[in-house]
Amino acid sequence: MRTSVTPEIRDLRLYGSAALRPLLEVESDLWRRRLDWEYMGSARLLLEYLDARALPGFVAVEQGEILGYVFCVYEANKAVIGNVFAAPRATGKWTTEEMTQCEVERVLLEHAVSLLTHSPGVDRVETQLLLHPAGELAEPLETAGFRRAERLYLERELSAGASVQAPRWTLDGGCRLRAWHDGEMTRAAQLIVAAYSDHPDSRINDQYCSTQGAQRFLHNIVRYPGCGIFVPEASFVAVDVVSGELAGMVLSSQISAQPGAECGHITQICVLPEYRRRGLAERLMREAADALAAKGLRKLTLTVTASNAGAIRLYEREGFRERHRFDAAVWVRPGA
Ligand SMILES: CC(C)(COP(=O)(O)OP(=O)(O)OC[C@H]1O[C@@H](n2cnc3c(N)ncnc32)[C@H](O)[C@@H]1OP(=O)(O)O)[C@@H](O)C(=O)NCCC(=O)NCCS
Repeated sequence: MRTSVTPEIRDLRLYGSAALRPLLEVESDLWRRRLDWEYMGSARLLLEYLDARALPGFVAVEQGEILGYVFCVYEANKAVIGNVFAAPRATGKWTTEEMTQCEVERVLLEHAVSLLTHSPGVDRVETQLLLHPAGELAEPLETAGFRRAERLYLERELSAGASVQAPRWTLDGGCRLRAWHDGEMTRAAQLIVAAYSDHPDSRINDQYCSTQGAQRFLHNIVRYPGCGIFVPEASFVAVDVVSGELAGMVLSSQISAQPGAECGHITQICVLPEYRRRGLAERLMREAADALAAKGLRKLTLTVTASNAGAIRLYEREGFRERHRFDAAVWVRPGA
């Protein structure tokens, strides 16, 4: 019979990659089952940061065993809670005296929230708990004054063996399709800021509120594996043929290369307000889906905020269905 039922919470920076790797492997398995997402790509980056002792966060430890972890990233006056996860026991069963997996995650999250909301340099905290069902970890966030927004994880099949065909470059509505190239980053960032002005997503991700922020967002998508491996050949912009202005874009990544479950992800789709309702997003989405199918991918996923009814209508028309629901949450220091 156990006497101590509460794990000890310690600083994540005391631990290197060797200590965390087994837990991240268990977590990766859940990402695969729940979302068809190969998490080990992001996990490898985390392991590098762990070895550099550069990742703020906590671990839950009991009798020398690491049960779970939470980590944070600082970005000027903002902090992001990157992830929280606790593993099920090796036996797959929890005794009634032990904290459940979810209780360990709540305790870890409480510690991260308390650290950040009591840090004078931090005015804003964001998190998107993609792996966790909506509501599961809501309590520690809401108790600390976070605003929560439900988000959906949608998926659709891609037609197997789609023939490799060049994109159709002409678009309706006075625009032309063009392949994405990295030199487009600043203009693409300006497009994001204009497209997400007064939008629910710019309330949960303040990178959408400034050109520098949107550039950081794009840089992360194109260079780092956090949202999957960027697929430039399935990423397009719509350009006004007269003014040359970027009117819309779609960016794609690959989140799984598992044989039989190769999965793509739309990391961004947006259209400037003055170019909407001409079918641009529909065409951008179809070209991206066709290019991913031609690469041999079987499925396509994306995330969308539950209140973004217009985008959800578009996705449902394109055959997407809900697979999972999760929480995004934001805390803003009162008076900041
Ligand atoms: C969501 C978004 C990308 C849609 O872009 P869009 O180019 O307007 O999309 P479409 O034109 O393909 O479809 C939008 C609507 O216009 C309609 N439409 C398409 N062509 C049309 C035409 N020629 N005439 C009239 N209506 C038309 C569609 O039927 C659709 O109608 P519905 O909303 O009633 O279902 C755009 O609103 C946007 O950028 N929003 C902000 C960013 C965002 O939310 N991105 C998604 C994040 S997950």
